[in-house]
Amino acid sequence: MSNSTITILGTGYLGLTTAAVLSHAGFTVYAVEPNPDRLNAIKQGRSFFYEAGLDALVSAGLKNGTLIPTDSYAESIPNSDVVFSCVGTPDNPDGSSNLTYIFAAAEEAAKYLKPETVYAQKSTVPVGTGRKVMQLFTDKSVASPYISNPEFLSEGSSVLDTLTYDRLIFGGENQDAIQKVRDIFTHAETQAEATATLAGLPFKAKSNHHIIVSLESAELIKVTANSILALKISYANSIAKLADKAGADVVEVMDGIGADQRIGRAFLNAGRGYGGGCFPKDVSGLIATGLDYSVDLEIMQAAQSINESMPGYVVEKLQSALGGSVQGKKIAVLGLAFKANTSDTRRSPGVAMANTLAKAGAIVSAYDPQAGEEAGKELRPGIASATSIKDATKDTDAVVIATDWAEFKEYSLKNLTQTMKGKLIVDGMNCLEPANVKEAGLTYIGVGRS
Ligand code: UGA
Repeated sequence: MSNSTITILGTGYLGLTTAAVLSHAGFTVYAVEPNPDRLNAIKQGRSFFYEAGLDALVSAGLKNGTLIPTDSYAESIPNSDVVFSCVGTPDNPDGSSNLTYIFAAAEEAAKYLKPETVYAQKSTVPVGTGRKVMQLFTDKSVASPYISNPEFLSEGSSVLDTLTYDRLIFGGENQDAIQKVRDIFTHAETQAEATATLAGLPFKAKSNHHIIVSLESAELIKVTANSILALKISYANSIAKLADKAGADVVEVMDGIGADQRIGRAFLNAGRGYGGGCFPKDVSGLIATGLDYSVDLEIMQAAQSINESMPGYVVEKLQSALGGSVQGKKIAVLGLAFKANTSDTRRSPGVAMANTLAKAGAIVSAYDPQAGEEAGKELRPGIASATSIKDATKDTDAVVIATDWAEFKEYSLKNLTQTMKGKLIVDGMNCLEPANVKEAGLTYIGVGRS
């Protein structure tokens, strides 16, 4: 199996990470990217986004010839035993999933697929999509088997999440096709530790379960997993609002309930809400799919509207602490990526808060260790792009923490007192210790930490 040839369609966070990892597991991997700028970056041995360890794998894969970046389906697919579709699935203005790239990729691939080549869908798609792609293949007399193999990697830990995982899901009707894809990952597991070392990342093995289900179940597992994590966050944020009024600390509350193994502590961090290219669109996509089947997923609508309220909730707290208005106040926003350890600013709560503050008349300076350039396009004109925490916080009345980068958590509070004009720290991530902030002579406001 290790001599298999693989094609990966799409080189975003999912596609490029999968391609890079598998190219170090003994496979020859074509990474297909139509965007010339992105393709050129990969050909030069780097990703076009920030992801720890990835560039090292990409450049080593190019050097040893096992990673082949190309924009050509004709060059890659006819040689391949398995094709992984990793193309983007953005959302439509009504919140439903936009499957243009999914079908365009399948249609183009159909021209070159051999009957024995497995077409595996890794992109997040609404339940029922696989059946439609299979119909497309039937209409075009393509005999290749189709399976669903959704991905669970998180940005910021993509490489490690691909090397070792709680579970992989395989859904489809053709058991030989499922086995062929499982064999790829089983073989990759044997190389995982060495690949992590090459990437410069610490490796800790996980259970690596393989779960085989129906096609529709596999599709639904993916969206349901993301939605329940989003639900947990919105639940924590609802309790945070209550804690603010009732005098409790939501971090203590979540630590207390999270210690119950039936509940778990993960994804119960209250703050400025979830962002990114996955949760917001997967929640709205699930709501839209529900409506297609006349199922009203009110619980997800609630999760969505709570989430949408959170950046504004944090800004209101800041505003009232500054006497009711931010007009003319100098405010630093630290964190423009949608989470730490990535340069991705899609649906970033930090960007939303910076823009809201600027619109309300604040003089905003913004800083992120990796996302400054990407955020530039989304920030309102007039928002200053700072190059360091010190630069961003100079002479400010208040500082908002919007992403919990280690650099922010570890920054000296004493230094902050020296650069800031005012004293207010609004911790939109609940990532600082309130007692330490107070001890430094600053005023702390968290989310649900009255
Ligand atoms: C998410 C899932 O966690 C992955 O399993 C999945 O594969 C991926 O979507 C996907 O579908 O591609 P990701 O969006 O990269 O991964 O990042 P997360 O770590 O899940 O964070 C999402 C957002 O939730 C971030 O804005 C984060 O700050 C926020 N969050 C997370 C909270 O507000 N509170 C928490 O307790 C946890």
